[in-house]
Amino acid sequence: MARDKKLIVANWKMNMGVHESSLYLHELSRMIQPRRDVEVVLAPETLALQTLSVQINHRQFKLAAQNFYWRDHGAFTGEVSATMLRGIVQYGLVGHSERRNIFHESDKDIRAKVQAAIRNNIKPILCIGETASERAWGETLDVINDQLIGGLANITSEELEDVTIAYEPVWAIGSGQNALPYDVTIAARGIRSQIKHLYGAKAAENIAILYGGSVTAESAADYLAIPDVDGLLVGGASLDAHIFSEIVDKAHSKSTVVKKG
Ligand code: PGA
Repeated sequence: MARDKKLIVANWKMNMGVHESSLYLHELSRMIQPRRDVEVVLAPETLALQTLSVQINHRQFKLAAQNFYWRDHGAFTGEVSATMLRGIVQYGLVGHSERRNIFHESDKDIRAKVQAAIRNNIKPILCIGETASERAWGETLDVINDQLIGGLANITSEELEDVTIAYEPVWAIGSGQNALPYDVTIAARGIRSQIKHLYGAKAAENIAILYGGSVTAESAADYLAIPDVDGLLVGGASLDAHIFSEIVDKAHSKSTVVKKG
């Protein structure tokens, strides 16, 4: 994902079924203007993706899968593959802390999913971030580095062009306790420097980095003002059309300010 746009991703998680998602999309499409400088990505539950992909104005919104399995086909009862999502979604979340912690996804699973997404023309959004205790021990940058190495192993520099990194401190997700912009600045800089170490300066400069974790309409602008932050991954606040559209507006005004400056 090139860094000439702000990327705002709405992670609806396991909220809103097909009908509700469709009504909500209708509401959002009245409130959010298509903007050249902001890409708005919606991640509804898996069943709603097909319906929304037909309903959506593709200039206004893109779709993301919240999850998928890394094998393309086969005897994997209950799973949906990236191959099945191909053409329906443009993005896929990978390595969200809820997947890592509740569903015990390992770095090995996560790297296989990053590869599966790329193989199927889906842009992976690789989520990384430290827990509260890792933070307390001062291990944030080590965790970030390890999760980047773990998630991106076997990804070439060419493939990396389709990867976005989301920095989501685990303690900030759904807790109302959002990270301080200073901490996000340090973490985002750390991500860029690890990408530089792994792929070189150009790749580090080009990769898009998002912040996620209890983002609100009030805090959005502070994160978007951080030079290394290219967008937001929004959970709870994306379920309210007024709040979410305000966040998108902030991204638009930020891009405008950046261009003028
Ligand atoms: P939150 O979720 O905004 O509700 O903290 C963010 C996320 O899990 O991606």
